[in-house]
Amino acid sequence: MTRKPLIAGNWKMHKTIKEAEELATGIRSQLQGFEKVDIVLCPPFVALHNVYKVIKNSTIKLGAQNTFWEKEGAFTGEVSVPMLKDCGCEYVIIGHSERRKYFAETDNMVNCKIKTALAEGLKPILCVGETLQEREANKTIDVVSRQLQGGLESIDESGISKIVIAYEPVWAIGTGRTATPNQAEEVQKFIRDWIKNTYSSAIASGIRILYGGSVKPENINELMKEDDIDGALVGGASLSVASFVNIVKNSIT
Ligand code: PGA
Repeated sequence: MTRKPLIAGNWKMHKTIKEAEELATGIRSQLQGFEKVDIVLCPPFVALHNVYKVIKNSTIKLGAQNTFWEKEGAFTGEVSVPMLKDCGCEYVIIGHSERRKYFAETDNMVNCKIKTALAEGLKPILCVGETLQEREANKTIDVVSRQLQGGLESIDESGISKIVIAYEPVWAIGTGRTATPNQAEEVQKFIRDWIKNTYSSAIASGIRILYGGSVKPENINELMKEDDIDGALVGGASLSVASFVNIVKNSIT
């Protein structure tokens, strides 16, 4: 099955509302009508709606970087899935390694968030990946399978087919040290096989598995040549119009 590439920009905690609007405007003007790749912009919560106003009526989609699993209530500081949808979101990143590391998110919390997102019609981008220490201890596959198992607990076939998975080795995030295409492919293939064994071949061949970690205009093309890399989750290089646009354009193999 041919899977349409997806490139998502994770702006993390960068950009004021004005800066976010400018970045989105630049990206929109250069990628208007570029339909070979699905493009998702994930600004900080406070800029979501303004970015939505810039990209609506284009093919570019909006995503959030996180969500809470309850729909409303006394949860000071949290943002719910219905609120994200109200801002124009179609996607939500769940379980990013920075959330797991700095905010103690567990696989169980990730699972709760995925369930709420799916129930309310938001598409989760589930992040998995090992730390350097885990890789060096040959635990990569154990860690990734535990994250898949825990994050996708009791998600059925109709749920999984709406999910995008992002393999992001923690040691490659923000470090300039990209995984080699072979290193990434090894884990991406493991993930697809895991989906095949847990669900079905048809689901495994349709699901998009992104790579994330120091993706740049210079390395995206080599990564995309691998069979199981269907796009990228881009952090630092998504913060300027030129580098993000070039990543999108160079992702076509
Ligand atoms: P990076 O971040 O591209 O800056 O390495 C990727 C990510 O954390 O999603």
